[in-house]
Amino acid sequence: MTGSAMTDAARPALLLTGSVMEEVVERQLSGRFTLVPLDALNDSNAGAVEAIATRGKVKVDDALMARLPNLKIVGNFGVGYDTVDAAAAAKRGVIVTNTPDVLNEEVADLTLGLLLATVRQIPQGDRFVRSGQWTKSAFPLGPTLRDRTVGILGMGRIGKAIAKRLEAFSVPVVYHSRRPQADVAYRHYPDLVEMARTVDVLVAILPGGPATRHIINAEVLAALGANGILINVARGTVVDEAALLSALQSKTILAAGLDVFEDEPNVPEAFFALDNVVLLPHVGSATHFTRAAMGQLVVDNILSFFDGKGPLTPVAETPWPRG
Ligand code: 8YV
Repeated sequence: MTGSAMTDAARPALLLTGSVMEEVVERQLSGRFTLVPLDALNDSNAGAVEAIATRGKVKVDDALMARLPNLKIVGNFGVGYDTVDAAAAAKRGVIVTNTPDVLNEEVADLTLGLLLATVRQIPQGDRFVRSGQWTKSAFPLGPTLRDRTVGILGMGRIGKAIAKRLEAFSVPVVYHSRRPQADVAYRHYPDLVEMARTVDVLVAILPGGPATRHIINAEVLAALGANGILINVARGTVVDEAALLSALQSKTILAAGLDVFEDEPNVPEAFFALDNVVLLPHVGSATHFTRAAMGQLVVDNILSFFDGKGPLTPVAETPWPRG
């Protein structure tokens, strides 16, 4: 009985923190679990909840997990799981899974699209044609991707897929990450500010959360410089949004392409007035194809776990077999 607060004592309950790919996740799991939407969670059904499927908008924090004494697994719809307190889950013996790999190519495609849209001013050109301005004057010449070096912040699976695409565009790629990656030949910069000084494009594709909060700050933006372009497809939290706004307004950097924001879906209105920023509504993985694959991986993780075969893609904080 989806949407009901009632649970069937014979089968476990699965808490949905929001709408998690209804046609994929909810349909496949409703045969096995009583689905409990978050707003129907109460003292009488909390004890039946053994799994959570979550989408990243609602925090799965220690306080929520404390209400669920029989919780065993949290399936996060998304590769980034910064809204799940995985360290707290680990302490409680709760497994957390995410959806790595299935979205790499989709997010990398979008990143290149956003980079090209930003540097070649594609949305501005579209607005120019639609508003009839082309009949009055020519669209001004603009900046180029040629002669740029791209610095990738975060050289994980998606970072590598982005780098591979950039190679086809014949631009040099370098990167900053905590540790150099053994399987790539790009130059590694141990220091982000130093890398920002050297590159003309900075692409953020690193995990969100407290450890990376505002890693792109006023100092990094100043180092990126007046010809610099920032592309953020990671999390809004990795950029100091106020510092970015002021860097765009004062032309400390040239332009930015942003798919993510600190307080989604609330984008500071000051961005709307700027012509040197391209704004997207967090759509890196947002295609039917990839969202279905992500949903399937949430389902497969939860079913595999309850079939006694273990989770398929547990996060680092909750390894399997248990550490
Ligand atoms: C998901 C994402 O969109 O996977 C991620 O980390 O940012 C997106 O692909 C998001 O988590 C689902 O709402």
